[in-house]
Amino acid sequence: LQVEVLADAREIGRRGADVVAGELLAGRLRVLGVATGSSPLQVYESLAARDLPGWDGVEVFALDEYVGLPAGDRASYADVVDREVRAPLGVDPARVHVPDGRADDLDAACDAYEQALVAAGGVDVQVLGIGATGHIGFNEPGSPFSSRTRVVELTPRTVADNARFFASADDVPRRAITQGIATIARARRHVLIARGEGKAEAVRAALEGEVAPDCPASALRTFEDVLVLLDPAAASLLT
Ligand code: F6R
Repeated sequence: LQVEVLADAREIGRRGADVVAGELLAGRLRVLGVATGSSPLQVYESLAARDLPGWDGVEVFALDEYVGLPAGDRASYADVVDREVRAPLGVDPARVHVPDGRADDLDAACDAYEQALVAAGGVDVQVLGIGATGHIGFNEPGSPFSSRTRVVELTPRTVADNARFFASADDVPRRAITQGIATIARARRHVLIARGEGKAEAVRAALEGEVAPDCPASALRTFEDVLVLLDPAAASLLT
């Protein structure tokens, strides 16, 4: 696991995009795993600005999706991925995968998502953010490292943190489908991004605390190839 502290969101975006673009240009990016939220936005922007060839052949898999949002809701991760990743990069819409948070049978939708990941050959580069709770995807504290794609309950802290994407905190769904820790672990490379003081304690726990489900992101220390990109505020509690 490699940690780099960079000046700001722009620098982090450029560095994260270097990793993804390097894999794409080397012909090794068949499947890109994407986080939504604020942290990776500049990675996608930097990639879009490079005008790289070959995006139409790349499969994109989201980490997670809220349960129960109507189709076309701007806060749904299906919409977010379409707006912030698919359209700017020029990915084929048929190659974009987001868990189905509107399925009648959510457990079947989770199983289908696991199968789709395997059928695609697994994720080559997974872009990750980290929650203030230490979550990756929506794997909140207590999530077993052996977990797979499943329905989870969001913590009150995560609901509060994500309220900024909704009209009010009451509108934030309390449940989501998320890739499990073991699902995320199968990606060949991981790039985790954290910015701001609000992430400093989660970053400290993930990188220097116990490797245990209390801090789901600590599982990254058991993965093969992980690059952690931090701004100075997110890195401020590291020794
Ligand atoms: C989103 C996801 C979450 C976020 C995390 C950080 O798909 O999987 O783990 O990455 O909540 O969110 P931001 O970057 O908005 O602070």
